[in-house]
Amino acid sequence: MHLPRSNIHALVLTAITVVCVWLFPSTTTSVLFYGVLIGAGVQLVASVCVHQSRSKLGLVEPSVKSYALVTGASAGLGVDYAKQLASRGYSVILVARREQALNKLASEITEQYGVEVIVRAMDLGKSGAAATLFSQVIQALPSNATVDILVNNAGFAKNDKFLNVDLYTYSSMVQLNSMHLMEMCHVFAKSMVTRGRGRIMNIGSVAGVGPDPLEAVYGATKAFVNSFSRALSYELAPKGVGVLNCCPGATITEFSEVSGLTKSPVFLFPGFQTTSHFVAKTSLDSLLSPVVPCCIYPGFMNVIFANVIPMEPHWLIMWVGHFLWANLKGKSLEFAEKIHKNFGSKFL
Ligand SMILES: NC(=O)c1ccc[n+]([C@@H]2O[C@H](COP(=O)([O-])OP(=O)(O)OC[C@H]3O[C@@H](n4cnc5c(N)ncnc54)[C@H](OP(=O)(O)O)[C@@H]3O)[C@@H](O)[C@H]2O)c1
Repeated sequence: MHLPRSNIHALVLTAITVVCVWLFPSTTTSVLFYGVLIGAGVQLVASVCVHQSRSKLGLVEPSVKSYALVTGASAGLGVDYAKQLASRGYSVILVARREQALNKLASEITEQYGVEVIVRAMDLGKSGAAATLFSQVIQALPSNATVDILVNNAGFAKNDKFLNVDLYTYSSMVQLNSMHLMEMCHVFAKSMVTRGRGRIMNIGSVAGVGPDPLEAVYGATKAFVNSFSRALSYELAPKGVGVLNCCPGATITEFSEVSGLTKSPVFLFPGFQTTSHFVAKTSLDSLLSPVVPCCIYPGFMNVIFANVIPMEPHWLIMWVGHFLWANLKGKSLEFAEKIHKNFGSKFL
């Protein structure tokens, strides 16, 4: 059974309050105790209501006429999403800038899974890209075919002090990671709502849970994705469309190279990283289930981060975050690389 995070918080708070009342019996602790009990009850009722509305989601049955659009499909998580969706029987639409990589993946998928594949090479970081892509896709789709699944995955980060990176890079990051993702949801969700079925997965990040020094803009774009997707999930569930906010932590892809994170503890310390195959599998299992949760943190460490960060003071989150994102140098880098080489893969 899926127990929402709010209920786990409520249960933990109730347990702590019961212990407090037992240790320090007084009017204040008793009032606190009843307050927490009422709070936990309200959360329970709310989660049952939300569960009821999510149960009305139409199933998206796999077929060659049912297409899944994956952005950022030329590398990393996008490749796994495309392959795993095709292996589940959906036709796929692959979008990214590198056409050659997309065509190579398209041939692999057609050969291995026998589904239809459409390739669109385009820069999604340009303003208006979502509307252009939507009209191109509608024209390219065979008759009676529909886009039933949307995976908004394309994104990038830049790891450095805020003032060391040019404004153009930040504007492109905000445009791609947040604006484009929101626009894609707007243009594609309309027809899903009309049909009364569909699934949207927005890739946020654990980085969006708290402020991230050295990844200040990236963290903020992902905070937007996390917040927006969960609200959308609530709005669209009664219309039959499931929206899932997938929040990976450090995942072994080209991302660490592109963002300049290869020397950071988050990509070197054993136990912090997951594989893209694992992230894609766990999140697709949730996305395609009859009751779609509003968010998922694939991997044990990510669940811990996601639950602990909101309870900690901001100075502590930023201090730890700064350490995890920082590029190690000299002896500490040598030591971390040695540990990573010997033990890193054992935790994957
Ligand atoms: N890996 C991690 O540790 C991690 C953790 C949390 C969240 N995430 C998120 O997961 C998503 C996928 O990341 P990944 O790890 O798979 O990274 P990746 O291996 O670097 O892949 C990024 C993908 O996005 C595409 N892309 C980048 N800029 C684009 C643009 N302007 N237009 C179209 N496509 C563009 C790239 O294709 P082209 O270069 O061919 O355009 C590539 O296919 C991102 O949103 C990222 O923020 C990753």
